[in-house]
Amino acid sequence: MDKLLVTGPCRLNGTVHISSAKNATLPILVATLLCPYPVKFDSIPELMDVATIIKILESMGLKTSKNGNELVADASHLDNQHADYSLVKTMRASVLVLGPLLARYGVASVSLPGGCAIGARPVDIHLMGMEKLGAEIEIENGYIKAKCTKLKGAVITLPFPSVGATENLMMAAVLAEGTTVIENAAMEPEIDDLADFLISQGVKIEGAGTSRVIIHGMDIKDLKPSGKNYRVIGDRIEAATFIIAGIMSGGDVKVTDFNPKHLTYVLETLTKMGANLEIGDNYVHVKKSERLKGTMIETAPYPGFPTDVQAQMMALMSTVEGNSIVTETIFENRFMHVPEMARMGSKVTLKGHSALIEGVDSLSAAPVMCTDLRASAALILCALNAHGQSEIQRVYHLDRGYEKIDEKLTNLGAKIERVKG
Ligand code: UD1
Repeated sequence: MDKLLVTGPCRLNGTVHISSAKNATLPILVATLLCPYPVKFDSIPELMDVATIIKILESMGLKTSKNGNELVADASHLDNQHADYSLVKTMRASVLVLGPLLARYGVASVSLPGGCAIGARPVDIHLMGMEKLGAEIEIENGYIKAKCTKLKGAVITLPFPSVGATENLMMAAVLAEGTTVIENAAMEPEIDDLADFLISQGVKIEGAGTSRVIIHGMDIKDLKPSGKNYRVIGDRIEAATFIIAGIMSGGDVKVTDFNPKHLTYVLETLTKMGANLEIGDNYVHVKKSERLKGTMIETAPYPGFPTDVQAQMMALMSTVEGNSIVTETIFENRFMHVPEMARMGSKVTLKGHSALIEGVDSLSAAPVMCTDLRASAALILCALNAHGQSEIQRVYHLDRGYEKIDEKLTNLGAKIERVKG
């Protein structure tokens, strides 16, 4: 297992290019299952989660060819509607294959993903929605067994704006008979990007990015290649991570190639804390500022504060003046970074879903262990700030969702060494 040796403190300087969003790439690649022709992309990030979804899609018969960040995905001939436990258990987003398989073939057998480190994460909302579209669903031997003659458009009201359920149902609705309306849909920019991809293939979708998404079902033969390579949006979570890294280091960092509007709430919070940010159309320039002051945040579905930036924000709050409070409302177990950050001198007291963070003058290096993707990012941020050399173990969590993070940070002047193991 690889580990990272990070020597701090360091001041970051320069420009960093943000990769395409992991959380948009995954559903969009899954959506190619609906397309009976090759689809071309020019910005697929090299991430473990992307490799995992490609493996799952290939197990269904998808043919791919890759050249750097370019990818061609061809679902002309699929021969398997089964997503095996061995593959699904490594990544929950695999459950997204349910919708397109069911819509195209009338049958799908997809392993239940099970829990994960940050929470139980059931898929009941996905299944309720599929049933509304006319699917019959049984849970058998750990698998979701779904079948239908033909999905039929319906009005589906989600009890919670689940990102994954919205995506799964949007994809299922593309080949359903008639119109589907998803009420209380998730509004994350990644949903909008999935809709843009589907629209580029001829699908009629309205309202993506709002709480009501309308999908007009169509026949598979009416889907058409756009003739252009599709480019997935920039990763707002990676961008937020680098912006926070720049602020914590007291450096001068330009974070480019993403849409700052996707981070409005985060940028407003950082500015309120005292960060000096120049916000452009496709970049945020972090400039030197006075020491930031503590604040309160509560995670919420988009456009609220993203749960995927909570851990990184807590790393920042550990080093600012005064106290901060973080309340996590999306996942029940998303404070696993706290005991590891405490090993570096961060002062956090947990009480239920909230954390009180007392800002300290400086952090100190320590050996720490990654527990999940965003927790790992928070540990790197602390290590960059801490005095001495920190050893960050289990960085495979980080490699799931941050493309070349050690290389990007090194280019900004960080002292990071990857030890292969
Ligand atoms: C997606 C993101 C993840 C992000 C999360 C919330 C991807 C690949 N992952 O995950 O990075 O942290 O959105 O912004 O895009 N829930 C149910 N039943 C369901 C579905 C969800 O109870 O059927 C609950 C979950 O347990 C969780 C909450 O709803 O507590 C949010 O989940 P959801 O929005 O579905 O997140 P994901 O799509 O899994």
